[in-house]
Amino acid sequence: MKRVVLDMDPGVDDALALLYALATPDIEIAAITTVSGNVPVRLGTQNALKVLELAGADVPVYEGAAAPLTREPVHATHIHGDDGLGDTKLPASVAMSQGDAVSYLQDALNAPSAPHLVAIGPLTNLALAEFNHPGLLTKASSLTVMGGAVHVAGNAAPRSEFNFFADAEAAHSVLRARAQVRVVPLDVTRQVLLTAEVLQRHTKGEASAVAQFIRESTATPMLFASECHGHDGIYLHDPLAVALALGHLPAEWQRGWGDVETTGGLAHGQLVMDERPTRCDRDRIGVELEWASRVNADAFLELFFRRVLGGYR
Ligand code: BDR
Ligand code: CA
Repeated sequence: MKRVVLDMDPGVDDALALLYALATPDIEIAAITTVSGNVPVRLGTQNALKVLELAGADVPVYEGAAAPLTREPVHATHIHGDDGLGDTKLPASVAMSQGDAVSYLQDALNAPSAPHLVAIGPLTNLALAEFNHPGLLTKASSLTVMGGAVHVAGNAAPRSEFNFFADAEAAHSVLRARAQVRVVPLDVTRQVLLTAEVLQRHTKGEASAVAQFIRESTATPMLFASECHGHDGIYLHDPLAVALALGHLPAEWQRGWGDVETTGGLAHGQLVMDERPTRCDRDRIGVELEWASRVNADAFLELFFRRVLGGYR
């Protein structure tokens, strides 16, 4: 049984990732830590608690950083809705944050059996924990982050993905922590498109509260995608990152050297992989990391819906 900590900024696809993780039999979710990102952190914490209540799950939530390391917060409520959950107005939870996310991460990673860490929001909490305890992130049983755009366009700036863009300094420090990080970038998450047709096919006749939530919460980002990007459907960035982190489906992984740009200009937040052909490590810029480049999208969508509609522990 893998013990997992999910660091997130819920967010519609974060909420779907949480539902997926909760419906996964072979893991124990030790905690959820929240961070400023898609929505202000207080709202993100409430959203995590609401989704837990929806699934009838009891998992501690710890609230983390309210702002990036050095810059102003960047949110994405124009995509995820004012409430961050597609304006679904899920009932408020009476539960509350159990404490500070950064302290929790420090304690959890310093404990004898450190959890697997899956980060699907900006990396501020992880960077702060590493700053307080250098070497901390190397203690995680594994570290997977959703972020970056290697060979594809960005979604927050021309070549920058939202999580790395929203706190580029944090992403830079987390990569620099040399913790064998596995990166799940837009290159692979954009292969998993949840269209209205796929959604309808998988949830047809499903009357559960979870099925209803999935249908309603995805409607807002789907509208944005169709109006602003001219395509039908939304990408399941965070659910895919969780599935890949837990080894639930095969993927092609590339190994290379890279870093995150923090200059504040047009390339701010870009994950730049050094792809110059060389055999000499001294020529390389950045740190060694693995990034996912290909998955079987249909296999993932099947797995996702089988799990999220199949019941909760
Ligand atoms: C990432 O940005 C957020 O808006 C999503 O929740 C996901 O984590 C995709 O770029
Ligand atoms: Ca997210």
